[in-house]
Amino acid sequence: MKSLIIAANWKSNKTLDEDDLFVSKFINSYKANDLKEIIICPSFTGISFISSKLKGNYGKISIGAQNVSSFSQGSFTGEVNAMQLKDFCSYCIVGHSERRINFSEDLSIINDKIKNLLEAEIAPIICVSSLDQLDGILSSINGKSIIAYEPLSAIGSKDPANPIEVNKFSREIKEKFDVKVLYGGSVNSENVSDFTNQDSIDGVLVGGESLDPISFLKIIENA
Ligand code: 13P
Repeated sequence: MKSLIIAANWKSNKTLDEDDLFVSKFINSYKANDLKEIIICPSFTGISFISSKLKGNYGKISIGAQNVSSFSQGSFTGEVNAMQLKDFCSYCIVGHSERRINFSEDLSIINDKIKNLLEAEIAPIICVSSLDQLDGILSSINGKSIIAYEPLSAIGSKDPANPIEVNKFSREIKEKFDVKVLYGGSVNSENVSDFTNQDSIDGVLVGGESLDPISFLKIIENA
């Protein structure tokens, strides 16, 4: 059996109390499996707490950030740089369509973020919604990087992409580059195995259905 990554992108959700509630319910029923790495990506405000509760305590659970500064340390009010994340996170999401669209993140910003993350030894989870978006990014990645394919029409729509098409996309990338490829977009406990059973898909990046510990645990179990 191949190993899988099941990542949770909590987006801009959860107060500290809600983080705490998730952790207590999650650890009650979570069964570690060496073949399934779980990556939880809370907001910055929850990273320290979630990391202290889950990182390394229950087998293969890692922590990721959802964003990082495109600058290194210095006079950049409000920014969190890659070296600051290093104590808590082994992964960081970059290039998510919600950031490209709402925060005007372009290729140059995304490449700066990837470079800073790789320098801090944090693996970037680079989100793309089309093959074209890989142009100009792949020159800056290395084998630690993960690509997450998230077609715009599938995000938050309850209308996931076709697993066969996603597999084709993943294979094309993996033929050229030594990277893992995840799928993201309306993944739930019922459709997750349609994706994880494909030979070239290495796992999933889950949004809405990862917020509830019970539905996320079901996704992990069925993956
Ligand atoms: P949903 O799972 O809510 O569709 O979100 C997908 C996503 O954007 C993960 O990064």
